[in-house]
Amino acid sequence: MLRIISIVTVGLLWAAGAAGAEPESISISVDAAKPGATINRHLFGQFAEHLGSGIYEGVWVGAKSPIPNTRGIRNDVVAALRALHVPNVRWPGGCFADNYHWRNGIGPRRAVTLNPDWGSVTEPNTFGTHEFMDFAEQIGAAPYISVNIGSGTPQEAADWLEYMTSALPTTLAKERAANGHAAPWQIPILGLGNESWDCGGNMTPEYYASQMKIYSRFARNFHPQQQQANHMLRIAVGPGGGEPRFLEWTDTVMKSWKDRKWSWDIEGISLHNYTVVDWEHKHLATGFDLKEYAEILQTTLKMDGLIAQHEAIMDKYDPQKKLLLAVDEWGAWYAPSPGTNPGFLVQQNSLRDAVLAALNLNIFARHADRVRMANIAQMVNVLQGMILTDKEKMLLTPTYHVFRMYVPFQDSTYIPVKVDAGTWTNGAITLPRIDAIAARDARGRLLLSLTNVDPSRAAKIDVSIAGMAAKSATGETLTAPRVDSINTFDAPKTVQPKPLNATVNAGRLQVTLEPKSVSVIVLSP
Ligand code: AHR
Repeated sequence: MLRIISIVTVGLLWAAGAAGAEPESISISVDAAKPGATINRHLFGQFAEHLGSGIYEGVWVGAKSPIPNTRGIRNDVVAALRALHVPNVRWPGGCFADNYHWRNGIGPRRAVTLNPDWGSVTEPNTFGTHEFMDFAEQIGAAPYISVNIGSGTPQEAADWLEYMTSALPTTLAKERAANGHAAPWQIPILGLGNESWDCGGNMTPEYYASQMKIYSRFARNFHPQQQQANHMLRIAVGPGGGEPRFLEWTDTVMKSWKDRKWSWDIEGISLHNYTVVDWEHKHLATGFDLKEYAEILQTTLKMDGLIAQHEAIMDKYDPQKKLLLAVDEWGAWYAPSPGTNPGFLVQQNSLRDAVLAALNLNIFARHADRVRMANIAQMVNVLQGMILTDKEKMLLTPTYHVFRMYVPFQDSTYIPVKVDAGTWTNGAITLPRIDAIAARDARGRLLLSLTNVDPSRAAKIDVSIAGMAAKSATGETLTAPRVDSINTFDAPKTVQPKPLNATVNAGRLQVTLEPKSVSVIVLSP
């Protein structure tokens, strides 16, 4: 769905215009004949927690709502998410998952319970298992269910899995049918708890490892089509940072896995890492200056080192990289929007967040052999969302646009890129000026993502392409007047992608990137 230009193979004009006042060009080289790992589509996953208006209002309005909906799920949000080709949605939390008792969310009478972690509000449970599965189907995403291992029991988790996946006519399967879904659901991904070192029960690594084995053993998937190749991926709780306690956590979980017996297994561990400079004094989501722009981007780039730290531990126990690392909570976490319930984690989303999203997606792509899943926090109305709603109104955030522009990268093959672009400096912070990734898709096209971090200098780029005879290019770019430009309900298109002019000639691509921009270019043979 890349809108836009079909570029003619010229290039001479560009070269001619390069003389005189034009900035010097930046060299990038890619070798399409040197494929790396698959950039798994699950790197573009979403996270939807029962938190603030992330579910209620953001996704679920109820069948009687005047807001257009299908079986209670808002149509505008579904249509917007379908365009992202969302590969999976993690639900129901987050911290909420370890408070969640699935029986409250099925059947005609729903218990009203508390949402103890988020905003001191009640939880109506009107959005439960059936509604979530319906939502996942409507947007075409795989469900990623997190089971409660904090305040739940292995039996409760086992029953939930049987309720969802059993094709045999057990009492639980019959109850599912009586509640409107005769066929079992496939559950491709299962999370074994959430942040069990913190809100999920403050467990020691050893205690968690014992729980992990028990839940892995008993929360079983009975779906007839998931017994072999298509089996459910079980994701254990992994680390939440780079401190010694988290290195120990990864080590303990990985060692347990290495010593596993036939009766249990996992297929991955998670990593949670938010972009926060100071948890006590969080940065503002809007109205910030270049100093804060630089601080946030410097902090977000630490994702790379953090992944590398935990990969090294995983490699020690799993050199064949059988287990995946799922960065299943990531994104910017700012001070809450003024006037909102601080427990609802409402924040605006600026051009800076688009740049931040691209930098993180690029990091995941570079670690694609181990990082095979990621879930941005969170999908609608919470933290670094794709979508903001206000009753019947909806807007797409700058981060949404990056995810939409990156759709061609889903399941593409990573290709190494060499960039020689220098740096951008603000005060004591120096950042790489240009960040780039390349990939090859199933149609043989070359995909390039180029992010110009520099807020004031355009970047004239000259890409040399080996291993592919590129003939044409299409592209689009996302930028805005200011680094803190945002979309609002009154002005929803301030930050919006537009066509990008690029030329291909004799194995070279030439393009000028606007300051503070994210661009995606697709080159066809
Ligand atoms: O995404 C918000 C919260 O951040 C999640 O509930 C929790 O897992 C993390 O601490």
